[in-house]
Amino acid sequence: MPSETPTTIKLEDYQPPAYRIETANLNVLLDPTATLVIAELKVVRQPDTKPGAPLILDGDNLKLLSIAVDGAPLQSNAYDVTPSALELTPPTGDTFTLTITTELNPDANTQLMGLYRSSGTYCTQCEADGFRRITYFPDRPDVLSVYTVRLEAPRDACPVLLSNGNLIKTGLVPDTDRHFAIWHDPHPKPAYLFALVAGDLAKITDNFTTASGNPVELNIFVEHGKEALCDWAMDSLKRSMRWDEEAFGREYDLDVFNIVAVSDFNMGAMENKGLNIFNDKYVLADPETATDQDYANIEAVIAHEYFHNWTGNRITCRDWFQLCLKEGLTVFRDQEFSADMRSRPVKRIADVKLLKMHQFPEDAGPLAHPVRPRSYQEINNFYTATIYEKGAEVVRMLQTLLGEDGFRSGLDLYFDRHDGEATTIEAFLKCFEDATGSDLDQFALWYEQAGTPLVSVNTAHNPKDNSFKLTLSQEIPPLPGQQSAKAAVIPLRFGLLGPDGQDLEITTGDSTKVTGDVILLKRPAQTITFQNVPDAPKVSLLRGFSAPVRLTQDQSADDLAFLAKHDSDPYNRWQAVQTLATQTLLARTEAVRRKVAFASAADLVAVLQTVLEDDRLDPALKAQALTLPSETDTAQDIGNNVDPDAIHTARTRLIAEIADELQPLLLPLARDYAKDSAFSPDAASAGKRALSNRALHYHAHSSNPGAVALVNDRFENANNMTDRIMALTLLVHHGFEGAMDALQAFRSRHATSALAMDKWFAARATAPRDETLQVVQDLIADPLYEPSNPNRVRAVLHSFATGNPTQFSRADGKGFNLIAESVLQIDKRNPQVASRLLTSFRSWRALEGRRSSLAESALLRVSSSEELSRDCRDIVDRTLQ
Ligand code: ARG
Ligand code: ZN
Repeated sequence: MPSETPTTIKLEDYQPPAYRIETANLNVLLDPTATLVIAELKVVRQPDTKPGAPLILDGDNLKLLSIAVDGAPLQSNAYDVTPSALELTPPTGDTFTLTITTELNPDANTQLMGLYRSSGTYCTQCEADGFRRITYFPDRPDVLSVYTVRLEAPRDACPVLLSNGNLIKTGLVPDTDRHFAIWHDPHPKPAYLFALVAGDLAKITDNFTTASGNPVELNIFVEHGKEALCDWAMDSLKRSMRWDEEAFGREYDLDVFNIVAVSDFNMGAMENKGLNIFNDKYVLADPETATDQDYANIEAVIAHEYFHNWTGNRITCRDWFQLCLKEGLTVFRDQEFSADMRSRPVKRIADVKLLKMHQFPEDAGPLAHPVRPRSYQEINNFYTATIYEKGAEVVRMLQTLLGEDGFRSGLDLYFDRHDGEATTIEAFLKCFEDATGSDLDQFALWYEQAGTPLVSVNTAHNPKDNSFKLTLSQEIPPLPGQQSAKAAVIPLRFGLLGPDGQDLEITTGDSTKVTGDVILLKRPAQTITFQNVPDAPKVSLLRGFSAPVRLTQDQSADDLAFLAKHDSDPYNRWQAVQTLATQTLLARTEAVRRKVAFASAADLVAVLQTVLEDDRLDPALKAQALTLPSETDTAQDIGNNVDPDAIHTARTRLIAEIADELQPLLLPLARDYAKDSAFSPDAASAGKRALSNRALHYHAHSSNPGAVALVNDRFENANNMTDRIMALTLLVHHGFEGAMDALQAFRSRHATSALAMDKWFAARATAPRDETLQVVQDLIADPLYEPSNPNRVRAVLHSFATGNPTQFSRADGKGFNLIAESVLQIDKRNPQVASRLLTSFRSWRALEGRRSSLAESALLRVSSSEELSRDCRDIVDRTLQ
């Protein structure tokens, strides 16, 4: 495939469709290499369209067998076929029927977009634009149609036949070995929500009764033998359904809800109406193969896809620029669900960590883009942390600004007003304005401007009149294509702490700037004066991380220690520890580079000790507080001229020092894990494991000669994957005696579970050791590695490129070259997976000179390829810009 000339699609060019498809009747005759799709489309000319205006249907890689209008076959001179479209001059009436037959080759579909086979099972992925790989169609989210789908396949090979909606008929095809099923989805939907599945699958079944009393059949389909791994997913589904009724008044609207787990899937999962298709990683779990993180992810992704039924399916996007309309809102909803199911503060901390780890670097580099982009070349490259995670933060700010009741009334109005529509961010915001009488003009900038605002803080206390002045200013650093940005409205939840650590009563007399415990920063700079403040207070700003901003504030180690101990907001207690740790890490990284002695870490050690000794804190929170900012976080804080080796050395030595200093507290925690007690995946048990494993992690870095034995012991006696993989990772990363045996033991134990082996791959690929480059090359050649499976690629290559900064950014450039080569290889087969891997270069300019020029050479090699997909072309061009 030669490089296509990139075309840029712009939001401002949006035009409503000229024709709509009222109903789509599909007859799909499945075959591994020659599937026939007979599409009967009822086409309706739109009022503004001139009779006879050309009808243009999208198509991609389709073999057109026939086309008929109102039953009359068209001769080939009556239409035009290009690689991306079918164009014809239709009859001049208001409606007509188009019958199109296409032939597909599911087995040859390595892109995993459109109809493909995963371990023999036929499945589809249509978002964003895969439906055009199934039949010619106006493949855009604002064309909503009622689908009736007939599937036909051999009974033996495909006993299970599924599509969207409700099953209305099944039967045998006379005189053949084939059978059929007819599915009807009464809810009009865009083509990206179409799905079908056919294969020989097992299922687990359950049921749910909606608040209105409607019974719903629930099924999860998996490969035979994996039924026992679906219980957690089913339980998560039922809790999601109930929660959406209770929290948002949203009920399910079909007779059946089906989930199918497949092993080859580009992304996490897909919310096709009534037929969610999942990467099996987000369905399958048992203590033997899944970590606590896996359990939490499954719960969150099941919920996310289920919640899309209202935020995405009932109300969808007018065009792909509005992607955050469904994704940001749905991530917000799944975050709230998990917070209700688990510990709210722990969930909030985990979400913010993820945001800072993935979204902040994206928003500070060449791939930065607004939550609602204005243009794109390849939409699949915009399923980003900015659209999803920052999009969710924007919705969360809306809730903070309007209050819980105001937010809920706006959302109710949105569901009411736009049900059944494909709509926009403007329409969404209008609902909140109308429901609450507020003006969200300035707020809308959060959707328009890229970049993370930097909020600077200055304070002045005046003991003469007991006043306290807080001066705040904001700016967005310049980005490619965005030289200057306007001031955003930033809700800063806050508190002022008195000398006893209690929150002070707030008096300002200025309600435009402060409402309740929220400061509204609306201008480039603003000063707030607080009265009745006899002693200089400690300021706790951005409580709960109330806005996706970076804060610069002069805070002494004493201030931070005070907040870490007393802040009434658990998020900011955690943040105070992190800020102190960041300060220590930055100073020490600088010391490593300048080859001078380290300053003492006594302040940080003392704070961590307080955390460990605080009985009020739950173990999960302690584990979070004890986790130092990552090397990637630290690189991000350094900003430019980054030397990953210096960061790694500084961080590793700091961990070792803490481990030695706090050994009396950490060692018992590391030892104390209940190997005999039965495993339970609940949040409280997971929290205990997290703390014990965090302590073990410190212990592994300590100078205690017993560390090696203890880690080996944990590995051998673990009764669950969380403990086992943690121990294995420590053995491998430290090159401990026993590492090789443990790798072998893990492999023998889990060789038949690809998902478990992915963890083994990742543990090896992330080892911060010189030999890892060779190890990764060996892993790609391992018989258990499957180059066509996205999960394997992520476990080995993504883990290396994004989870191993010293080795990916090796000073000899070999890490970059390995990833660049891999991108070129993978791109031939699966452009989406390749372009995602390519984004791991996004922070290349921040590296120190030698490494950044080596990264640039690797990027230029990719760029000079003449056979690059549109996906990779787009990423490499933007990364180099
Ligand atoms: N809508 C899906 C989700 O967030 C993601 C699908 C993205 N797929 C893609 N090929 N871009 O749940
Ligand atoms: Zn989603």
